[in-house]
Amino acid sequence: MRVDKFLSEMGKASRTESAKLAKSGKITVNGVIIKKADIHIDPYNDEVKLLGQVVSYKKYTYIMMNKPEGYVSATEDGREKTVLDLLNDEERKKDLFPCGRLDKNTLGLIILTNDGESAHKLLSPKKHVSKSYRFKSKLPLTDDDVDSLEKGVDIVGYLTKPCKIQLDESRTEGIITITEGKYHQIKRMLEAVDNKITYLERITFGNIKLDKDLERGEWRHLTNEEEASLLSDI
Ligand code: URA
Repeated sequence: MRVDKFLSEMGKASRTESAKLAKSGKITVNGVIIKKADIHIDPYNDEVKLLGQVVSYKKYTYIMMNKPEGYVSATEDGREKTVLDLLNDEERKKDLFPCGRLDKNTLGLIILTNDGESAHKLLSPKKHVSKSYRFKSKLPLTDDDVDSLEKGVDIVGYLTKPCKIQLDESRTEGIITITEGKYHQIKRMLEAVDNKITYLERITFGNIKLDKDLERGEWRHLTNEEEASLLSDI
């Protein structure tokens, strides 16, 4: 792989910036200054330093974000702010995209990655990756409602798969865990029992839990353990 491609994939410098940095002696490969950024390296075995700092190679990036209200889960949108707008320039160079969608007014855990193959698997209906949401409903849920929702309801032309609901004492709040992701699924499920969602926040995605230290709009990279755990789901 070329040094400039390597640095750009790692979000450290664009190709043009890499050329300039090399020219001014700011890049070394295995301790030797390189003057041109088009030389080829083995990203796994060669040691590249930029401004004296080692740049390690990671093929893909995985980020957890605490999505705030008002952002759409897309890479670009002519009118709306997207979750990518919350990233910094370094991350925005990496071709990241949201792994699945949350509605504009849904909050909480969203994973961003540039690993298309794993994202495809994580979202595949065949893999049954579970997602939990804290919700509030307009009306209290009865035992019959919970029973119907857990068994599966008709959301206008689609019968939802079994899910799990833990209700709080108020019966208007709780956690719902589903293993699929149809458009507006939870909102439509509540409508199927003549109720309405008034608050929705995703708190888990597969084995990943939303980090409580992340404020709305904040994000961080998954740790190596989280990354392995996420991918062990598929
Ligand atoms: N279900 C919904 O209705 N909306 C979401 O954003 C996620 C699940």
